[in-house]
Amino acid sequence: MTTLAILTAAGSGTRLGRDMPKALVEVHGLPMVLHAARRLAASGVVDSLVVTAPVGLATVMSDVVTRDPQVTVPVRVVDGGATRQESVAAGLALAGPGDDVVLVHDAARPFASPALVRRVVAAVRGGHGAVVPGVPVVDTIKSVSVAVDSRPAGVFGDDAAVEPVTSTPDRSVLRAVQTPQGFDRSLLERAHAAGASRAADAHATDDAGLVEALGETVVVVPGEDAALKITTERDLVLATFYADGSGDRP
Ligand code: CTP
Ligand code: MG
Repeated sequence: MTTLAILTAAGSGTRLGRDMPKALVEVHGLPMVLHAARRLAASGVVDSLVVTAPVGLATVMSDVVTRDPQVTVPVRVVDGGATRQESVAAGLALAGPGDDVVLVHDAARPFASPALVRRVVAAVRGGHGAVVPGVPVVDTIKSVSVAVDSRPAGVFGDDAAVEPVTSTPDRSVLRAVQTPQGFDRSLLERAHAAGASRAADAHATDDAGLVEALGETVVVVPGEDAALKITTERDLVLATFYADGSGDRP
């Protein structure tokens, strides 16, 4: 029985605003997708890798990941889809007969450590069908009713819109979730099949959300600061803090 890791790298990186897809942007001299692939391989619990590439860039992505001596597992590259969910589905279609556990990991989280990868896989192999890393939330989170502006017209500028607060969830039970997320392969396939038949505006923002929509249990294991997601230039600066190579150790 083997573990397949789907490494999502097909996004365009609009919010980062570079002239190349985010996964190919370098941090500490290496493309993000390669940092992520190295750590998945270094975990020792991933048997093969499927990388989702932006359309037209499969060869570039393949050159980056397959030629690196530290990526010691077989790598295949597949064209991604228009949404992250569709990209994951394209990767999942390449799962082989022996792949009973599937990890889904974002190239946008290049410094998730090999230890985190092992923790997630161990929980799946320990009997949990869907496992996500999560960290406590430091901010107080409020729900608001969106797009409601109760101001008298013309008094404030556009940047002064107000949103009424509807509730404040108890912070102690909130977790900010990360990747890699790990799944029993057949459960993830079922979740994606159901997700694909829902409306496009109902696309889940993570794979665990698709499993929850089936009514199945998802569990959280401890995440880590190093697994931060790079969205904007500010995150790139922060990520260099974790890019000193220590994550390369198994
Ligand atoms: N992703 C993907 N296929 C898509 C969209 C996203 O494989 N159609 C991947 C991204 O490459 C990234 C991960 O999903 O590794 C998380 O997405 P996000 O952080 O939103 O990255 P981008 O979509 O590239 O960034 P942006 O939303 O700013 O354009
Ligand atoms: Mg995106």
